[in-house]
Amino acid sequence: MAAQFTRKEVEARNQRDNAAIIIDNVVYDVTPFFDDHPGGVEVLLDNAGKDASQCFHDVGHSEIALEWRQQFVAGEVVPEEHWPVRSRDQQAQQAAEPLTLATLISVWGPPLVLAALAALFYMYLFP
Ligand code: HEM
Repeated sequence: MAAQFTRKEVEARNQRDNAAIIIDNVVYDVTPFFDDHPGGVEVLLDNAGKDASQCFHDVGHSEIALEWRQQFVAGEVVPEEHWPVRSRDQQAQQAAEPLTLATLISVWGPPLVLAALAALFYMYLFP
């Protein structure tokens, strides 16, 4: 089973030589990562010991970043201190409108009506 940490334990790990960060209830030991982070040392140090989920997602980190962070997993936050996670899927679902007949008509309706009118006009002009 993965190691578990309380948020208080993580809070104590806020130094350059011992830094942990929480992203989506997973604890990352970013101590060896400072010099390699493309976003710089400062932002990691500012967030050391804290929950950086919001910041991490706001940056819009790439798939590469998501894969890379796996290397630094130290464990997870104890279940009773979990915060709700906004997964990528949830975000995508919120962004994507469901494809209904009404959406189809509102998108395709006007150009189709215009095309039909143009065709009728053409047939009227050149019978
Ligand atoms: C283990 C955790 C992390 C990994 C593996 C990681 C990885 C990366 C990578 C690969 C990039 C280059 C751009 C991209 O590919 O997305 C990047 C950029 C960046 N990261 Fe991180 N990052 C981590 C944590 C964080 C955290 C916690 C923050 C802020 C709270 C942060 C802030 C930034 C910023 C500001 C940039 C620069 C974005 C830009 O120049 O447009 N990163 N990070």
